[in-house]
Amino acid sequence: MNQPLTDEQVDFFRDNGYLVLRNVLDPELMAQTRDAWWDAAPKNLIRSDPNSWVGAFPDSRFTWKYRDRSSEPWMIELLYGNPELQAVAKQLLGPELATPERIRGIYCVFPDTDKAPRPSRFHVDAHAFHLGVVGYVDDVPPDGGGFTIWPGSHKQFYHTFKTAYTFNPLEENKEVWDTDAWRAVLQIDPVHTYGSAGDVVLWHHRMGHGAGHNRSGQVRQAVLYDFCRADLNAVQDEPPPADMWRDWPGINGG
Ligand SMILES: [Fe+2]
Repeated sequence: MNQPLTDEQVDFFRDNGYLVLRNVLDPELMAQTRDAWWDAAPKNLIRSDPNSWVGAFPDSRFTWKYRDRSSEPWMIELLYGNPELQAVAKQLLGPELATPERIRGIYCVFPDTDKAPRPSRFHVDAHAFHLGVVGYVDDVPPDGGGFTIWPGSHKQFYHTFKTAYTFNPLEENKEVWDTDAWRAVLQIDPVHTYGSAGDVVLWHHRMGHGAGHNRSGQVRQAVLYDFCRADLNAVQDEPPPADMWRDWPGINGG
């Protein structure tokens, strides 16, 4: 079991903005997820023929975000309803979590035709939430298109917004990527996560992150959900508090 998180895990999350937990997701729900996206995949993708997976969805950087079934109860059960994840979210954020109508979806990254390494690019998400979860429903090898994160970037970006959770960059006359924080994060070496089916990555909402470059031969299959406190709507447009962990009772202000 991964919960409660140890003090070391909580401190790692506070300082780095992410935490990897192993062997969390339910095997049957993961199998159902794999079947669900394969059932909906374009017919030129053959599940039993790995050669047919290579270079799929070139117009979206080999990424397919499948959201059509995200509000089905079993999909919500996979992430929000997972007992360990829910306990960890409550440990960090307090007991009052928002109840979701849907998860984000199943995000697949297909093998690139070009296996040469290339620089990774980051962004900060534009919607309001607290604690992101990326769950792998199949094995993801190194360089297999895993979720990529810039450790510590949550601290760089946190006070560059006018509001605590919505997306309102402080320097409104500048593009967000033309700021000191952006340039500082460019100096950080990204972490390319990987792991086994059932592993999850937890991450802070202001974390710089990006899709991985899948240089392997298999499809990166992840499910995404964003844990939110029940009071998110009430506080999302407030200025960011001086203590960026005000809404995280499980974290010592650092
Ligand atoms: Fe994103």
